[in-house]
Amino acid sequence: MRKKIVAGNWKMNLNLKEGKDLIERILTELPNLNEHNQVVLATPYLHLSQAIAQTQHTAFVSVAAQNCHHETSGAYTGEIAAPMLQNAGVQYVLIGHSERRAYNHEDNALLAAKTNAALANGLQVIFCCGEALEIRDAGTQNDFVGNQLKESLFHLDAAAMSNIEIAYEPIWAIGTGRTATAEQAQDMHQHIRQVINAQFGAAVAQNISILYGGSCKASNAVELFAGADVDGGLIGGAALIADDFLGIIKAMLSA
Ligand code: 13P
Repeated sequence: MRKKIVAGNWKMNLNLKEGKDLIERILTELPNLNEHNQVVLATPYLHLSQAIAQTQHTAFVSVAAQNCHHETSGAYTGEIAAPMLQNAGVQYVLIGHSERRAYNHEDNALLAAKTNAALANGLQVIFCCGEALEIRDAGTQNDFVGNQLKESLFHLDAAAMSNIEIAYEPIWAIGTGRTATAEQAQDMHQHIRQVINAQFGAAVAQNISILYGGSCKASNAVELFAGADVDGGLIGGAALIADDFLGIIKAMLSA
């Protein structure tokens, strides 16, 4: 049975005290979770050690980095390598967020290399994909997202895929307040599962968690998460507000 996951992507927000206070509130009011649920907090690098210390005794709450470098060490000023993350106690890493694709020119080939580095160092990868508005308007979103998966993940074997989660985040829905409809989300998630099924087989496809991201809030999470292939969410803005994030966690549990 695949896991339901709510992951908060803090992006470049919150100072250390604000981050600490937010995690404290989330932990204090966290509903009962079990081995079929996971909460993930993708904080800025600076917060990782603090977040790990705060969550280390709380089962089912894990910490993620928002990126890692594709090399494992070396002269890459300002970068962080996957072995450093693993050594610090980080369990997950986001790879391929659309903001990094756009602002840091990360292409599918580089994201394949980053995925390899993360997996080789024992990290669980939340691989992000999703189309821009003009692709959605042209009706070619299925091919576009399928190609993102193909070029960054299809070199892996089935065993490696058990360490991958997918986050579908349509770019036109990120930070815009314009959420995909529950039907649009379910349609794409079903397509992603079919693409994975065709490449890796039914066991991998049925076990992989596929999260939706893009203006997901406590008020729309129940509807979005009702889709048979929607296994939770990757949350931006609403992950910065304890009540909103807790509401989304509760929606995951009721889905
Ligand atoms: P918002 O929830 O703010 O739209 O951001 C989604 C996102 O990009 C999460 O990675």
